[in-house]
Amino acid sequence: MAVTIKSAKEIELMRESCRLLSIVHQEMEQAIKPGMTTKDIDILGDSLIRKLGCIPNFKNYNGYPASICVSVNDEVVHGIPNKRRVLQEGDIVSLDAGLIYKGYHSDAARTHAVGQISPEAQKLLDVTKQSFFEGIKMAKAGNHLHDISNAIDAYVRPFGYGIVRDLVGHGIGTSLHEDPQIPNFRQIRRGIKLQAGMTLAIEPMINMGTHEVAWLDDGWTVVSDDGSLSAHYENTILITDGEPEILTLY
Ligand code: MF3
Ligand code: CO
Repeated sequence: MAVTIKSAKEIELMRESCRLLSIVHQEMEQAIKPGMTTKDIDILGDSLIRKLGCIPNFKNYNGYPASICVSVNDEVVHGIPNKRRVLQEGDIVSLDAGLIYKGYHSDAARTHAVGQISPEAQKLLDVTKQSFFEGIKMAKAGNHLHDISNAIDAYVRPFGYGIVRDLVGHGIGTSLHEDPQIPNFRQIRRGIKLQAGMTLAIEPMINMGTHEVAWLDDGWTVVSDDGSLSAHYENTILITDGEPEILTLY
């Protein structure tokens, strides 16, 4: 599938889709506390999305059974909400959510602390979030895709963390996943040239240890191969002729 350039009208629809998703994320963040289950988070996120008149785009995507991906500690992404999985003080929990508004998709993820967490875990969260911001400094018309990938890699590498390679960011619009793929690690090929009107989901996934990941038997949950903590930070952004717009931060 080709990379799409959104019209002014489509950009307005993307903006609204993403604004609504940012509300869902804010409300989920406020609800996080020790004792709640990962299923509670999915029920909350699903009902918020529907109350806003939108459709959860993850639900049934390739058979994914929930609306919110909830990934705890060494789970990198695509954790399946479970009514027996209780969040404990000191855990970190990654919430990945998306919705469809008038046919337009949005996608964003954040990793949150559950109660008090260790300074080491907090640093992983901070570095992962900042790596997104380092990446989008390069997300300008005329630059190439690898400028984003290389900026994320250059920022994260000195911390000694593992940058997940098996999962990448992506274009987004009338489908959840459009071209191009957007790796979070150093690229030799420069990739496509960025143009105003592209909407992209940029989503570094960073492990405290190895970059290697494994899939659990449920067919979805991705975990760090060495059991180390993992964090995720994602926003849907718009390429413009000036600074990029972060559509899912409102
Ligand atoms: N944000 C995720 C991604 O970009 C979407 C989850 S796919 C699902 O891949 F199937 F788990 F919903
Ligand atoms: Co995504």
